Amino acid sequence: MSRVVLFPYPAQGHINPMFQLANILHHTIGFAISVVYTQHNAPDISRYPHFQFHLISDPVTDDNSLIPFRGNAINVLNARCARPFKLCLARILSEENNATVRCIITDAMWYSTQAVADELNVSRIVLRTASVHSSLVYAALPLFHQTGYLTSMEARAEDAVPEFQPIKVKDIPTFGAKDQNSIVEFFSNVFTETKRSSALIFNTFEELESPDLAKLRRQFDMPVFAIGPFNKRFSAAETSLRKQDRSSIDWLDTHAPQSVLYVSFGSIAAMDKTTFLEVAWGLANSGQPFLWVVRPGSINGAASAGSEVLPAEWAEKVSGRSCVVEWAPQQEVLAHSSVGGFWTHSGWNSTVESICEGVPMMCAPYFADQMINARWVSEVWRIAINLERVFARRDVEEGIRRLMTTAEGVEMRRRVAALKETAAACLGPGGSSYEALVGLSKFIMELG
Ligand code: UDX
Repeated sequence: MSRVVLFPYPAQGHINPMFQLANILHHTIGFAISVVYTQHNAPDISRYPHFQFHLISDPVTDDNSLIPFRGNAINVLNARCARPFKLCLARILSEENNATVRCIITDAMWYSTQAVADELNVSRIVLRTASVHSSLVYAALPLFHQTGYLTSMEARAEDAVPEFQPIKVKDIPTFGAKDQNSIVEFFSNVFTETKRSSALIFNTFEELESPDLAKLRRQFDMPVFAIGPFNKRFSAAETSLRKQDRSSIDWLDTHAPQSVLYVSFGSIAAMDKTTFLEVAWGLANSGQPFLWVVRPGSINGAASAGSEVLPAEWAEKVSGRSCVVEWAPQQEVLAHSSVGGFWTHSGWNSTVESICEGVPMMCAPYFADQMINARWVSEVWRIAINLERVFARRDVEEGIRRLMTTAEGVEMRRRVAALKETAAACLGPGGSSYEALVGLSKFIMELG
C-alpha cells in the first residue's frame, strides 16, 4: 500500500482543507494516510481511526504571541518546527511495517519542510489553501517591495495595481507587520520553497480561476492540480476546532426560503468594539432576519464572545428575527434553503463554500488574502457586494438591502447559481477536477 504523510498548518482555515484532502486521498484514491500535527489546535484524532497520527514535540503552545498569523510568527514557527518535524518524518520513513511513503504533502506556510524533504530524500507536494489569484499577488510581494508600493501604502491606498487588476494598493496583504521586510522575506521563502517542491495542489477548479491558473503554471513551471472544491467531496465539519451549535439549523428551519442573512467572519478576524456595534446596528436596522456567528475573541482584546456588549434595546429591536451563536455548522447553514446571503470576511474556505451552495455574498475583509478574494468575488465574478474594511452601520444596512431585496441581488444569485452548477459538474467523471485528481493520483504513484 502507498502512504502519504500530511502536515497541516495549525489554524482552522488551513486544517480544514488539509483534512479534506486527506479524506480525498484515502477514501477516493485509496492511499494510507499519516498526519503529523502540533499540540496547538490539535485535531480530534478519534474521528479518524483509519489514519496514523504523529504528534511532534510542540514548540508552539508555550508561546501565545506566536499564534498564528501575526508579524513574524510564521517565520519563527518554521524555524522551530523544522527539527521536530524532521525527527518525526525520519521515524515514519524508517518504520519497517510502514507502507511505501510516496511523498509528504505540507501546507505552503510550512516552507521549512522542503529542506527536510530534501535531506530525507522524499518528495514534497505543497497544498496552498488560498486561491490561485491571491497566491499570484503574494508571489509578487518582493516586486511590490522593490517598486515602493509597500512603503507608500497609505498615500497610494486607492491606486490600482495594474499588474493585478482589480486589486488596489490597500489590498496588498501586510499582516499588520510593522517590519515589511519580515513579510517579504516570509513570502519569498514560501514561494522559493514551493517552486522547489514536486507539485502544487489548490482547493479551486479550473473553470473558476482559469486565467490565473494559466498564469501560475507559466510562472511556476511545475505541475499544478486544481482538484477542488474539496467541501463538495468531504465536509469541513469533522475538523471544526469549536463545537458547532446545531440550534442554528433548527432556527433556520422556521424561516422562509432565502430570507436569512448568514453572518460570519471566520476563525481569526477580530474587530474593535466600535466596529462590532456598527455591525450589530447595521443588522438591526436592515430589518432582515439574520444568523450571526460571534465567536469568543470576535472583539479585539476580549476573551469572551462579545455578544454581552450588545445593549438591551438592540436585543429588543432584533427579537424574533435574530439568532446569535458562537460557532455554526457553516457548510450546512449555507446549504439551507432559508439562507439568501452570506456576509463574510472572504476567507478562501468560506468563499468556496458559499459558491458551492449558490449563496451570494457581502464582504468585509480583514487581513491576508481576504481583501483580494473580496475584490475577485465582487468585481471579477460579480457575486458579491464589497463593503471593504472600513464601514459604518448605514453601509451595512444599504449593503444588506442591495443583496437581499433588489434586482442587483437577484442577478448575483443567478451568477453564483451558475458557478454552483459548474463546481458540481467538475467533480463528476470527465470534469476538470475529477481528471486533475486522476492526474494527481498517478503523479503520486510515480514518486518515491
Ligand atoms: C483564514 C483565511 O482562509 C485566510 O484569509 C487566511 O489566509 C488564513 O486562514 P479563516 O479566517 O478561518 O481562515 O476563514 P476561512 O478560510 O473562511 O475558514 C473558516 C472555516 O471555518 C470554514 O471552513 C468554515 O466552514 C468554518 N466555520 C466558520 C465553521 O465551521 N463555523 C463557523 O461558525 C464559521
